[in-house]
Amino acid sequence: MKTVLVTGAGGYIGSVLVPKLLSKGYKVKALDRFFFGKDKLKENSNLTLIQEDSRRLHEEVFANVDFVIDLVAVSNDPSGELFEEATWQTNHVSRVRTASIAKKMGVKRYVLPSSCSIYGFQDHKVDETAKTNPLTVYARANEKAENGVFKLADDDFSVTVMRQSTVFGYSPRMRLDLAINGMTYGAWKNRKLPLMRDGKQYRPMVHIQDTTDVMCLLLEADTAKINGQLFNIGSAENNYQLGPLGEKIAETVSKLVGEKVEVEWYGDPDHRSYSVSFDKIEKTLNWKAQWNAEKGAKEIVEKLENGELEKNTQTLTLDWYKDLIKWHKIIKDAEMYGGILEI
Ligand SMILES: NC(=O)c1ccc[n+]([C@@H]2O[C@H](COP(=O)([O-])OP(=O)(O)OC[C@H]3O[C@@H](n4cnc5c(N)ncnc54)[C@H](O)[C@@H]3O)[C@@H](O)[C@H]2O)c1
Repeated sequence: MKTVLVTGAGGYIGSVLVPKLLSKGYKVKALDRFFFGKDKLKENSNLTLIQEDSRRLHEEVFANVDFVIDLVAVSNDPSGELFEEATWQTNHVSRVRTASIAKKMGVKRYVLPSSCSIYGFQDHKVDETAKTNPLTVYARANEKAENGVFKLADDDFSVTVMRQSTVFGYSPRMRLDLAINGMTYGAWKNRKLPLMRDGKQYRPMVHIQDTTDVMCLLLEADTAKINGQLFNIGSAENNYQLGPLGEKIAETVSKLVGEKVEVEWYGDPDHRSYSVSFDKIEKTLNWKAQWNAEKGAKEIVEKLENGELEKNTQTLTLDWYKDLIKWHKIIKDAEMYGGILEI
């Protein structure tokens, strides 16, 4: 049995990836601070939870590990701007350090799930050879991480970077701060679909089941094809402009709920716009995305209707981190003898 160390394993992507790896017969070491709780991963005899900060990893964590999937991050643009230093240290410094220790400890493969947001603004469709244009702390930290980990690749240590499109779809650690997920929620709950101005921006999307499938394929693929390689992860069909995407989701949800759904614009015009080519991943792994926005929106509406999904602060990454920090101070100030009222 091969062992995979997944960092950020309790997060949106991690809590879908970990059960998938277990079902494929891997042992998994799931490492996370568990900022979103430990309840997102179900117990399994082949699963070990490790509560640790990625900035403080020790060599013992890598004992008997064959592969690393390094999902850990402060995971969106607004959180990156507010928690700038933590974002640099976690998303860039810790990931390069994790890859270095992994290499030293004899791990065979390292996969970095990065982001297409590194393309920032582009006026034409780009592939992996394009000049990047990272516009935010989050995107710049991802780019530095990519450059840092690629330097470690050699014949005994395979390094692959996935530049993921914006992810959508259901996860036990749901994120409603992601475009399709948030649009679908607003359309379902209030019959008002939130759409970021001006709607002309291009943004590729990928379903969470599709991107986690690629992560699994990268553990099995011939390293001659993937070592030292960068792949955009998504599909031509899901290379959306946000305006038409919003209309498509409004129409899908409207049909499901039998009521009209209106678009509600918000924010200043988005400066990020990138349309991306996915030919390389499709050809190299003979893989194709199985999901599109309508199918993803239907899945989310189904989860909302059957009560498996609800909106709370934990589904909004930035708001949750702000809350944790606020309550950390309140609890520290009030706690005595290890408790509040009960001591
Ligand atoms: N979700 C997307 O649309 C998307 C798109 C492109 C790339 N990505 C990348 O995929 C990865 C996973 O994203 P996600 O959507 O699952 O985010 P997430 O916020 O749900 O998960 C990140 C996890 O990392 C943990 N974490 C954060 N800082 C930590 C630290 N210092 N030490 C230990 N654990 C820590 C959190 O507790 C959380 O469980 C990230 O690297 C993100 O940048 C995500």
